[in-house]
Amino acid sequence: MLLYSELNADALNYWLQEALEVHDGASKGKYTIGLGQDCMAFCSEVEDVISMSLTVVKSLLEKYHIDPKLIGRLEVGSETVIDKSKSIKTWLMQIFEESGNTDIEGVDSSNACYGGTAALLNCVNWVESRCWDGRYGLVVCTDSAVYAEGPARPTGGAAAIAMLIGPNAPISFESKYRASHMAHVYDFYKPDLASEYPVVDGKLSQTCYLMALDSCYRQYCAKYEKLVGEKFSISDADYCVFHSPYNKLVQKSFARLYFNDFMRNCSSVDNDAKEKLQPFANLTSEESYQSRDLEKGSQQLAKHLYDIKVQPSTLLPKQIGNMYTASLYAALASVIYNKHASLSGQRIVMFSYGSGLTSTMFSFKLNEGQHPFSLTNIASVLDVTAKLESRHVKTCPGHYGDMSFIHQGNQGLC
Ligand code: ACO
Repeated sequence: MLLYSELNADALNYWLQEALEVHDGASKGKYTIGLGQDCMAFCSEVEDVISMSLTVVKSLLEKYHIDPKLIGRLEVGSETVIDKSKSIKTWLMQIFEESGNTDIEGVDSSNACYGGTAALLNCVNWVESRCWDGRYGLVVCTDSAVYAEGPARPTGGAAAIAMLIGPNAPISFESKYRASHMAHVYDFYKPDLASEYPVVDGKLSQTCYLMALDSCYRQYCAKYEKLVGEKFSISDADYCVFHSPYNKLVQKSFARLYFNDFMRNCSSVDNDAKEKLQPFANLTSEESYQSRDLEKGSQQLAKHLYDIKVQPSTLLPKQIGNMYTASLYAALASVIYNKHASLSGQRIVMFSYGSGLTSTMFSFKLNEGQHPFSLTNIASVLDVTAKLESRHVKTCPGHYGDMSFIHQGNQGLC
């Protein structure tokens, strides 16, 4: 399986989180240190999830010189409702109709931030199946995350990302170790079909995310251990990439994996850390999610590993904000962009979470690959620094409290 990706970030506008703190009357550092975010991107009145998707698909086909006729499956992950029946995929068909290719399977997948992963797994399964006709799969993740006024609002964002799927890939799935956790909860949902805002229980959504992470990690480790015959720990992951609603939750998530390793007596946790975590060893799992001392302590103890294994994935999520379905894959793109020269032979563990809830942990093994699908060329096409630098910073957040207008297209910003 392979993934070549193209990201749309340059057409977007953004606010600095420190300016939003002032605008919202939040205490200094609440969004930048408390949530760990630098900027928040948003669609202007001339962009939406469809236009962003059209941009990334066109750009990917052009930059990798892919004939549109070579696409046999197109799947879109999104939770941004544009139409209750017509899929975003059908809008993207305009690109393929022009070249006479209408023989393309796939529609949209939707469940909060997980739809992109569902779309990706569908494409990978298709390429691995008896139905595969030798052509590429294409996955598009696209969302505009906007929240009603209140504490969730600074965790918005917007982006689209496209990924090409096929054999002989530089980024290949370790399909046998996939582990999922699915359940019925109301942590974040969109019951009001006339509103783009979710109903969100922020604290519950954090706990659900961490519970799902624990469950997926336990099952991922068990599957690995059964097949490989050795214990799995975070030492076996060169990078850990998380769905990133905001960076602080990513810090907490990696610390939670570290605590899991401690509970499983793994060598990834040194003796000093074992001693410091010992007082928490007998907490019930419910108590462990509520313990502030454990949360802070494990974050500190895992910090040196976080800096190596997680920090390279945080570039785009910190600069753009929550991209819902695109968030996890923008974090992966950040690792590829930052570390492409040293990724060959390494393993990246991915954690996908969508409220409601659906979650999967899976992993990739990397190799340099062949041009144009080499890691070096993927990093060059991603061109993240230039894309981020070409964005437009907005300095008059007077309209910030009025974000619903952006998507109705009847009022400009600033
Ligand atoms: N300087 C530094 N840190 C600060 C400051 C300050 N001035 N003020 C507050 N903080 C810290 C807090 O201590 C806290 O950090 P901690 O978690 O390490 O203790 C952090 O900032 C957040 O502050 P809180 O008051 O705890 O939370 P808040 O009421 O602002 O809400 C929340 C945060 C729940 C994340 C909210 O933004 C939200 O609901 N977001 C949407 C839901 C979400 O993203 N959930 C994640 C999974 S589901 C999904 O992906 C959509």
